[in-house]
Amino acid sequence: MKTQARPNIGSYEERLKGFSWSAAESELGYTPGADINIAWYCTDRICQQGKGGKTALLWEGLGGVEKRYTFDDLRLASNTIASFLQGLGIAPEERVCLFMDRIPELYLGFLGALKAGAVVQPLFSAFGDESLLVRLENAQTKAILTTRKHVGKVRKIREKLPCLKHIIVVDDDGRKALQEREVAFSLARSKPVEDFKAAATKAESPSVLHYTSGTTGMPKGVRHVHYSLVSQYLTAKWVLDLREDDVYWCTADPGWVTGTSYGIIGPWSQGITQCVLDVGFTAEAWYRFIQKRRVTVWYSAPTAIRALMKAGEEIVKKHDLSSLRHLVSVGEPLNAEAVVWSERVFGLPFHDSYWQTETGSIMITNFPGVKIKPGSMCKPFPGITAALLDMATFEPFHESGKVGLIAIKPGWPAMLRGYWNNQEAFEKKFKNGWYLTGDRATLDQDGYFWFVGRDDDVINTAGHLVSPFEVESALLEHPAVAESAVVSKPDEINMEVVKAFVTLKAGFAESDDLKLEIMNFIRKKLSPLAMPTEIEFIAQLPKTRSGKIMRRMLKAKEWGQEIGDTSTLEND
Ligand code: PRX
Repeated sequence: MKTQARPNIGSYEERLKGFSWSAAESELGYTPGADINIAWYCTDRICQQGKGGKTALLWEGLGGVEKRYTFDDLRLASNTIASFLQGLGIAPEERVCLFMDRIPELYLGFLGALKAGAVVQPLFSAFGDESLLVRLENAQTKAILTTRKHVGKVRKIREKLPCLKHIIVVDDDGRKALQEREVAFSLARSKPVEDFKAAATKAESPSVLHYTSGTTGMPKGVRHVHYSLVSQYLTAKWVLDLREDDVYWCTADPGWVTGTSYGIIGPWSQGITQCVLDVGFTAEAWYRFIQKRRVTVWYSAPTAIRALMKAGEEIVKKHDLSSLRHLVSVGEPLNAEAVVWSERVFGLPFHDSYWQTETGSIMITNFPGVKIKPGSMCKPFPGITAALLDMATFEPFHESGKVGLIAIKPGWPAMLRGYWNNQEAFEKKFKNGWYLTGDRATLDQDGYFWFVGRDDDVINTAGHLVSPFEVESALLEHPAVAESAVVSKPDEINMEVVKAFVTLKAGFAESDDLKLEIMNFIRKKLSPLAMPTEIEFIAQLPKTRSGKIMRRMLKAKEWGQEIGDTSTLEND
């Protein structure tokens, strides 16, 4: 075990006493009612503090290409992008999508769009055109920043998107002819805008729109506001324990909430240097990066940790990872073995952190300095009231060992303010004055939370949520498919993967060729993350008396679990 300096949080118990978010507001120099613009806080304010020359971003892409940006570079680049967007006529609160790999423009575009007062909608660059279409249509997105590599997908769908007025190609080199609605932008060739007044957004002005999958319906746009900064700033300070001389690495893509809350806002609002590696995962590449960049704080995910465990310890020994001082994980249950393993090989345990796209910031976590019970998520962040609710009455209880629904008292700064254009789904998230996470857990006698599973059928594969409904809908479009049920099955690395059960229409015979044909058919419709790894033909799907498909029965079989009391399922 490495010895650690006193953590930023100091004593957890002390912090709980008289906690108020207003202390974080004061640290940020924010007074209620004043303007608050996340991008200004991440750039101009840090420069005003005399840290303009400090490295903000150390970027590395394929072939070892490197780029380095100071906080002053971030300020200028975000000014330039903001001014370009305003020049195009992007008005406050209009949606601007970011659709590109993890290149610097993604990070700079995020800040630029917020500075312009737009609502920024980051989407994972691996999404296919249909995944992109539903999200752009739902948000009525006005502009999209993309690259030559991905613009083809936008071209395929733009006819269906009259709202999308500007397709901004950020790496246009003049060699690819631009098409309708497309405009070229190059930071390198633009005149840097020295003075730009960040849009005068207020605490409740919308800021970031992340899409997340539920059990039913299309993906929902989670609407966050500029005031979320207060949660993200303080959690980055106390949970990630970020300090002035840290080199911080968040491995998440900003297409997902971890990559924005803690891959942009949390660290940069504190003036912390962070690094980004835009190459695919291999243990060798990751360890080499930590060694080269002298990474001190590392925020990653259980799937990656399991993959590193699989790669073994010899490869760890070949690298100098002595710079590491604090490790944190998010997105899926962190198995006890992973914590014990990391303690053995890195001399540091991974600290679990539990939260959601909707919560915007970390809710329950193993704080630095607080005893870790491997396999537990530990305790709520100060200022967060988390409880378990009885599954039938939705009343909080304290019994240890009993499974309940994880619920949070509304009111923390980063809480979602709604689902885009879907008030009904938003209202369903609240019961008896609690926000319902949709997850189940138990509590132990020390008040530690232990994650049990989701309360719905959503599949968490490698930390990405997949809606069974979305996959089933895609399957049903195939002419041979009569019915389908999509569930998770266990996987050594990704924890869960997607499996589809399919019944065929009369006249179609089961065959491997047909399976392959169905796979290829849905591949065009789904994001790669949502693709089933297996299709199984089945004569009949198990159903309730009212005709509802019992996914839970199929899932239990995959996981080798007791099917349990089906009498209740029968009446679902
Ligand atoms: O089921 C929980 C799981 O991931 C869900 C949230 O996913 P998403 O909105 O995509 O955000 C992921 C990154 C914040 C949760 O409802 N989850 C997240 N963190 C953990 C977790 N499950 C167990 N342990 C965690 N630490």
